[in-house]
Amino acid sequence: MSEWIKVCEVKELNNSQVIDFDVNDKKILLSKIHGKVYAIDRICTHAYADLSTGFMNEEEETITCPLHMSSFNVKDGIPQNLPAEVPLKTYKTKIEDNLIYVLLE
Ligand code: FES
Repeated sequence: MSEWIKVCEVKELNNSQVIDFDVNDKKILLSKIHGKVYAIDRICTHAYADLSTGFMNEEEETITCPLHMSSFNVKDGIPQNLPAEVPLKTYKTKIEDNLIYVLLE
């Protein structure tokens, strides 16, 4: 069953910043690129590293893992370089009444 989860107010998430949150058993990373909000799993698919401590690059639309430096596109979760090869799961987002929601399926 799908459910929209309220995460935060829009003003809490600035461009090039990330917000991490846990819901159920999921660890999710929210980012804003050029005013649009994206949500992906935040645990690196290579080994266990939390991408919320990684490095955001708004121009390249990526977040780089702090452990072995694989970069992931924050829009589609696809790794841009080794050692990570498996994409991160992505989630739909929406903004309503200045609140950011993520769709959990
Ligand atoms: S844990 Fe992220 S690249 Fe290795």
